Amino acid sequence: MKTYTYTKNVETMARAGKVIPSGVYGHLGPAEGCMIPSSAYPFFVERAKGSEMWDVDGNRFIDFMCGYGPNVTGYCDPDVDGAALEQIKKGNCTSIPSHIMVDFAELLTATVKKDWAFFCKNGGDVTTFAVMIARYYTGKKKIIFVNNYYHGVAPWTQKPDSPGTIWEDCCNALYVDWNDIEGLKKIIAENKDDIACFISTPYMHGNFVDNELPAEGYWQAVRKLCTDNGIILIVDDIRAGFRLSLEGSDNYFGFEADLICFCKALANGYNVSALCGKEFLKGAAGTVPYTGSYWMSAVPFAAGIANINKLKANDACAHFKAMGERLSAGLMKTANELNVPLIISGPPALFYMRIADKNNNFLIHQEWIAECVRRGVFITNHHNHFMNLSMTPELIDETVTICSEAMKITVDNHPEIFK
Ligand SMILES: Cc1ncc(COP(=O)(O)O)c(C=O)c1O
Repeated sequence: MKTYTYTKNVETMARAGKVIPSGVYGHLGPAEGCMIPSSAYPFFVERAKGSEMWDVDGNRFIDFMCGYGPNVTGYCDPDVDGAALEQIKKGNCTSIPSHIMVDFAELLTATVKKDWAFFCKNGGDVTTFAVMIARYYTGKKKIIFVNNYYHGVAPWTQKPDSPGTIWEDCCNALYVDWNDIEGLKKIIAENKDDIACFISTPYMHGNFVDNELPAEGYWQAVRKLCTDNGIILIVDDIRAGFRLSLEGSDNYFGFEADLICFCKALANGYNVSALCGKEFLKGAAGTVPYTGSYWMSAVPFAAGIANINKLKANDACAHFKAMGERLSAGLMKTANELNVPLIISGPPALFYMRIADKNNNFLIHQEWIAECVRRGVFITNHHNHFMNLSMTPELIDETVTICSEAMKITVDNHPEIFK
């Protein structure tokens, strides 16, 4: 199987490094150290369609990162792009919002079973707003986080040792482990009059670690503790939203969040996020000052309406699950044949995987992923992956073939481990 070369990618990165800090900053580039070795990865895309993308060297990839989530209906989906193009002709960023903002809010609140929707741009905008609302409504300051969390890059989400963050940004943070109800009870007892909110993703999809689903009764117990202690329950559904259930992941796991944050899969890549909430917090949401130059732009609303309607019409979450299960089964079959300790965790629609190593050596896993990428499967070594509506059984089977060859090569390269 041919492996890729990246001449133009490297040239473009050299140009980027001169005019853009880190060349490609954040998790979409090699700057955070997650593309190891970086020589295996493309840096710049030329075009994308459905579940595939082509980089600037013309290399074709089957893409399981989906833009780290937004690609949910398929790149360049004709229905979503068509709705956006129609709206472009009517106007986008206007002096008063388009009436379709109301259409989108009605569709979204009915879909996720909440009473109101407030639109922003990024995931971090809505997690930040949720915490501000909780603090305003309760008059309290502390935030309970679940270890391994990621809720964006705003100062309140950071640790004091993070560059650019100061202690005062983090001094109201409390930390509990995932699925640890006893730990949560203890934290609440110790900080009884100070806690504004508990914020968590619907299941533990931290990076670099096996993902964990909620234990039986976990969310129901969290819900009760929050209700009993006047703590606002915020679900960060930015990554998992619309991939487990179109009704929101709180409903999927059988409980009700007070505030729920959506972003990535909301509009198939068009730039909109949403905070949805219960009636009792609507007044607070309307009182806390919060807005932005582009937050009421109409094109993403049009795209979001088309996107949600298409996901509904195609029973999208069942498709994501079926495709994820097919891929997991294929990869596990190869791993078992080669005696490789592959662990696949999390829901199939957002599977996480890693080659386990008794010495906690991450290098073999990185090497396997790099061999997959060099052969045309775009996956990462530290993050969950994503299914989208345009994914097909044929593409899954091709992926299994490529990843199996890459696994065999990795095994052959390491007789000291895989005897
Ligand atoms: C769970 C979760 N919360 C919040 C965010 C932040 O979203 P954004 O990068 O759009 O600000 C992300 C982004 O990856 C996320 O996965």
